[in-house]
Amino acid sequence: MSGNPWQDGRGNKDRSITKSDRAGSTGDDPVRRGGKAHAAPGGPFLIGDGMTGGYGSGADILHGCTLSVEKGQIAVIVGPNGAGKSTAMKAVFGMLNLREGAVRLDGTDITDLTPQDRVAHGMGFVPQTHNIFTSMSVEENLEMGAFLRRDDIRGTMEQVYELFPILKEKRRQAAGELSGGQRQQVAVGRALMTQPKLLMLDEPTAGVSPIVMDELFDRIIEVARTGISILMVEQNARQALEIADRGYVLVQGRNAFTGTGQELLADPEVRRSFLGG
Ligand SMILES: Nc1ncnc2c1ncn2[C@@H]1O[C@H](COP(=O)(O)OP(=O)(O)OP(=O)(O)O)[C@@H](O)[C@H]1O
Ligand SMILES: [Mg+2]
Repeated sequence: MSGNPWQDGRGNKDRSITKSDRAGSTGDDPVRRGGKAHAAPGGPFLIGDGMTGGYGSGADILHGCTLSVEKGQIAVIVGPNGAGKSTAMKAVFGMLNLREGAVRLDGTDITDLTPQDRVAHGMGFVPQTHNIFTSMSVEENLEMGAFLRRDDIRGTMEQVYELFPILKEKRRQAAGELSGGQRQQVAVGRALMTQPKLLMLDEPTAGVSPIVMDELFDRIIEVARTGISILMVEQNARQALEIADRGYVLVQGRNAFTGTGQELLADPEVRRSFLGG
């Protein structure tokens, strides 16, 4: 498919889905209502560094958990149920008060920012559940995704429709009427409407068939090729690690194994304990 900015890094003339250097350490910081962002040059593009914390005043769920991803790369988090994968994603997105640790994105310490301010800094988050408005149309869902933008969103919407053509066909249909795989496309598309620099996906292939899973992974690779970093939790660990530049195995809120996707796939202990042999 030519002319599709998602399709291939080569000849990708339109990178407007990624805003240019919005969260640089100098210049126009977006309005903040929470804490402040601080310049933090160097290091990975995104890092949740030594994150410790839990829900409210409850016990810590995360214990010094560290996750990072480089620009345009794919990082995958795997681990058993209840390991804290979703909690770690929420911590990176600012939905958890960290007792220790920091989150830095593109040269800025954003640890004290609200989730909404993190969106303004270039984070897009697709939660594990309740990630679309089921009674709204597909197109209304995409419009909702762009709620923070004041500029023309039509170009981005067209890019989302090029990435997921079925959504264009069904744009007037209630999102709740779509299949599981199509709903996940709506959720990813909604997050892309903010032109994120980092896209966080919590189990994007949950409940979909292997074929739909493969297609979704292909689209996620396309998104990464446009320069967007992907931080993704996946239950289909083996398949997800195949496409991962970096992989994390979390166990009880701690980093158990870290490496490239290929390294984890080849690690006998990871295979035995987490990949079914
Ligand atoms: N909102 C919450 N309030 C209090 N505790 C929570 C909350 N959400 C999750 N937990 C607890 O945090 C721990 C980690 O849960 P989490 O959902 O992060 O795991 P997970 O690795 O994403 O699991 P799954 O694979 O089932 O999605 C669990 O013990 C869970 O009970
Ligand atoms: Mg989870």
